[in-house]
Amino acid sequence: MDKRAPFVFGKLATETEFTNRTQELDYLMQNFRSGINTILISPRRWGKSSLVQKATEKIQSRKIRTCSFDMFNTRSQEEFYEQLSQAVIAATSGKVSEFVETARELIGKFIPKINLAGDQNQEISLSLDWEEIRKDPADILNLAEKIAARKNIKIIICIDEFQNIGNFEHAVDFQKKLRAAWQRHKHVTYCLYGSKRHMMMDVFTKPSMPFYKFGDLMFLEKIKLPDWKKFIVKRFADTQKKITPELAGTIAELCECHPYYTQQLAQQTWLRTKGICNLQNILSAHESISQQLSLLFQMITDDLTTTHVNFLKAVIENQQQLTSKKTIDQYRLGTSANAIRIRKALMDKEIIDDMGRGLFLLDPIYAYWLKTVYFRIHQPQPM
Ligand SMILES: Nc1ncnc2c1ncn2[C@@H]1O[C@H](COP(=O)(O)OP(=O)(O)OP(=O)(O)O)[C@@H](O)[C@H]1O
Ligand SMILES: [Mg+2]
Repeated sequence: MDKRAPFVFGKLATETEFTNRTQELDYLMQNFRSGINTILISPRRWGKSSLVQKATEKIQSRKIRTCSFDMFNTRSQEEFYEQLSQAVIAATSGKVSEFVETARELIGKFIPKINLAGDQNQEISLSLDWEEIRKDPADILNLAEKIAARKNIKIIICIDEFQNIGNFEHAVDFQKKLRAAWQRHKHVTYCLYGSKRHMMMDVFTKPSMPFYKFGDLMFLEKIKLPDWKKFIVKRFADTQKKITPELAGTIAELCECHPYYTQQLAQQTWLRTKGICNLQNILSAHESISQQLSLLFQMITDDLTTTHVNFLKAVIENQQQLTSKKTIDQYRLGTSANAIRIRKALMDKEIIDDMGRGLFLLDPIYAYWLKTVYFRIHQPQPM
């Protein structure tokens, strides 16, 4: 019997930790198969990376190769070119010797150094000659297409935290170059994703920007309540504990179905459950997570101005007319222009979002903490 807690958070959800997300998975794989570029956007920790990894794993074959890299700390064009060429060559070369050969043949003039770490899990890295690339980056940008055409395969390139491209020096010129090269690719499909919604939207939805209409825009939603219920019940049962579908639903609802937190609360509840889960197990786990994070929440809140905090209170109390005179007076938000500015500032800080259905706090535990600890609003207990 596996004694490890059957939930995962802070790491990618794979195998049994992955709820089915069947529709999203099918959709993404369909795009991959048909060569449609995809732009995937969702707030932090809703499961983009897990989904893309699942899709690439499932679609991978002799004829379809996938490669991924993460731009979370990519700060320059040079680093980007290095990551891209390395990922592409690694994904399309079976052996180290093939990697070296491909690199030398196709982009040899850019490579003063190939570093091999000499153990079994060969770690290979390329250092590129930046001066040469600057003169003519097309070879690097078209590398995947060239390899794919030559080997008669398809390549899917997935790039995480792609919005960082907006922070590069000469960002727009750089994006122009990428777009010009990539849109001619016939054997390569791109999946570009990231969590900074506003930055992603700037890159992909502004008509004046090079990546405008580059691909199919996909907004990843949270995982649905019925899926969570089934998932949590099953993971308990798999590990010889029991939880009713209702209580499994309570776990997901307390976290507003937020993927990361739902897994975390399920995990903490599982640890407290002796045999059969009861409501108390869940509530005590929920309280404990909120307490663990209270210092962080206090810091976030200290960083806000009084009117920002007032605005959050209005959102928490479900006021939808945030620029109406009544709400502005009740929550002391100043003027309606001011309320609009606060809304934007809190969105830029990724504290609130609206996703087209009314404002809400992105972090459900922060919302709970504000409600119960900071504003001390009475909270009905789940039955
Ligand atoms: N399909 C899924 N089934 C179950 N849990 C999931 C699923 N996808 C994500 N999660 C949960 O959410 C957490 C965050 O997932 P992931 O890292 O994929 O999100 P992300 O959107 O890429 O986050 P970030 O913005 O931080 O990069 C995972 O550790 C896991 O707990
Ligand atoms: Mg991620």
